[in-house]
Amino acid sequence: MTLNTFKLAVLVSGRGSNLQAIIDSIEKEELDADISIVISNTKDAMALSRAERHNIKTTFINPADYLSKRAFDTALIEKLKEYPIDLICLAGYMRILGEEVIQTFKEKIINIHPSLLPAFPGLNSQKQAIEYGVKFSGCTVHFVDSGIDSGPIISQTVVPIYDNDDEKSLSERILEQEHHLYPKAIKMVKENQIKINDRTVTHKTR
Ligand code: GAR
Repeated sequence: MTLNTFKLAVLVSGRGSNLQAIIDSIEKEELDADISIVISNTKDAMALSRAERHNIKTTFINPADYLSKRAFDTALIEKLKEYPIDLICLAGYMRILGEEVIQTFKEKIINIHPSLLPAFPGLNSQKQAIEYGVKFSGCTVHFVDSGIDSGPIISQTVVPIYDNDDEKSLSERILEQEHHLYPKAIKMVKENQIKINDRTVTHKTR
């Protein structure tokens, strides 16, 4: 096995299918990177066992152990600083990062979200899309800033919404696209193919 230099931390809260897509893409050598640490804010996240199966180091940081959100964020920063990390990937991490975390790792945190941002930020985006009646939704990878799902957009995939879709069927079709989009976006950052100009992310090669 070759030792890669681009180091990821992946923050998770649940199922971990996007984490799995990143792991698979590294193992298939489509993405030249290593995962230094997977951090969860929920104890029994399936994502943790997925990581362990691939001998990736994991940590659970229990929000209940901290008196304030700020104290939790400080612990998270300390944990992240224990590892070599070039990029922090939020993969179904359902906790809002405080300003201190964002400033400490400025332009080094990305997230995947199951809608075409800026439409339907926050929770239950697929349900929001169906209820609104849009004909297309999708997924977005973006840099994380201090707003909710509001940072500069790296890449998006469009997913059509059919008349007979419900939240479950739409979520499944979007998720399938997330698994392609996220590793590719990480690769773009890794290969220094993009640059951020305020709100917009442009591709250097285009
Ligand atoms: C994914 O659909 C991801 O886009 C979404 O949570 C799911 C996590 O699934 N993230 C958000 O809604 C963040 N705002 P996974 O744990 O199987 O990767």
